Amino acid sequence: MTTNFATPKTSASHKGLEPTAGRSVPGIRAPLPGHSPDGTVDVVLIGHTGQVGGAVLERLGDVRDPAGRPMLALRESINRREHVIGTERGLDVRSRAPGTLAELARRLAGRGRPAVVVDCSADPDLPALYPDWLRAGIGVVTPNKFGFAGNRALYDRIQSAARSGRAPLGYAATVGAGLPVLATLRRLRASGRAPTKITAVVSGTLVQVFGRMHDGALLSEAVAAARDAGCTEPDPLDDLSGKDVARKLRILLREAGQAAEDAEPVIDREPVVEDRWAQEIRGRLDVIEALQRQDARWAARLTAAEQNRQRWIYRAFAEPGRAQVGPATVAADDPFGRLDGSDNRLVLDGIGNGATRVVIEGPGAGIEVTATSVLSDLAEAAASQLLRLAVA
Ligand SMILES: NC(=O)c1ccc[n+]([C@@H]2O[C@H](COP(=O)([O-])OP(=O)(O)OC[C@H]3O[C@@H](n4cnc5c(N)ncnc54)[C@H](OP(=O)(O)O)[C@@H]3O)[C@@H](O)[C@H]2O)c1
Repeated sequence: MTTNFATPKTSASHKGLEPTAGRSVPGIRAPLPGHSPDGTVDVVLIGHTGQVGGAVLERLGDVRDPAGRPMLALRESINRREHVIGTERGLDVRSRAPGTLAELARRLAGRGRPAVVVDCSADPDLPALYPDWLRAGIGVVTPNKFGFAGNRALYDRIQSAARSGRAPLGYAATVGAGLPVLATLRRLRASGRAPTKITAVVSGTLVQVFGRMHDGALLSEAVAAARDAGCTEPDPLDDLSGKDVARKLRILLREAGQAAEDAEPVIDREPVVEDRWAQEIRGRLDVIEALQRQDARWAARLTAAEQNRQRWIYRAFAEPGRAQVGPATVAADDPFGRLDGSDNRLVLDGIGNGATRVVIEGPGAGIEVTATSVLSDLAEAAASQLLRLAVA
């Protein structure tokens, strides 16, 4: 996805946000000078028109302190076309101008209030701005994987900016959606007991696709059903490539300390359908129709597995010297083979004395669980910003 300023268009379609000049608007408050007399933290929401961003927007008011007081004050919401700002006079809805995000750190610092930016986009370029925000003491919360799974130098810059700006940084939703995956890895690592082996199913979409195939659907039918249920990326070929799973494994390895700065493991990736074939049809043919050409190959693989009482899964696996993602078979009664709906399952092995294995399993995809994870990170980030004010 690329940033697109080309066709600015203003609309008042944000859920819960209506441009109402001269009146106060629920959810958006006028900027306050100074610190935070009302005990709230400013929020800038990127991607409020998206699935996850829309769910986060609707539930911002649910984030409250232990005394039940709201902790968040939505100040701005931004998508590719528009920029909505809460002002003393009401809502200012503008076409988005170039530089809107690049100037965010200066704008927020000028308000002198604690702030958190929530990036609910899937834009691979946006994370390059996180270091500026974090260094300025602005928190960042996001389900966007690109800052954590991509370029190592950017990942390091983000982490060190969070430390130097003493700013909260939350990205729990990038792996396992609402499951406590990254927090568990960090706790194990902090205790000197990071796992040395990870076996995981972390694509809820592919759990659904393989589950439907084992229930008798062809590959093209299973992908169409997952797409119609809103469970795939806009282009389902992105899910079938396994790249999303490889990104998640990269994040897991970094959090587990298994990806040294100068020796990032190479992740072998086997897609569900060949990359070259996917590239040939991408953007040219209807994906579901084109996938019918892959049906026979997968139907034969499914039949062979079932004759051997096995099931197909899309597995991520890492141990010292080896990291890979790809389709694999497991025994039909293996817990990985029995995953339901969009469940994820992670088995962390080699933890050391005492507990040698940790298993995390549960819903690992979906709008609501992802939004819940973002809001939990946001609540923590807001509390940490307020604490910082209190001790300053
Ligand atoms: N859906 C899930 O189950 C799930 C689970 C875990 C993680 N995630 C992650 O959550 C994120 C959001 O997913 P989604 O399904 O909600 O995506 P989505 O429906 O496509 O929404 C993306 C939102 O981001 C906005 N956006 C994109 N690029 C932007 C940019 N450069 N500047 C400002 N706004 C921009 C879009 O605005 P426009 O209205 O202008 O297009 C839209 O509001 C992704 O990173 C995804 O990987 C999703």
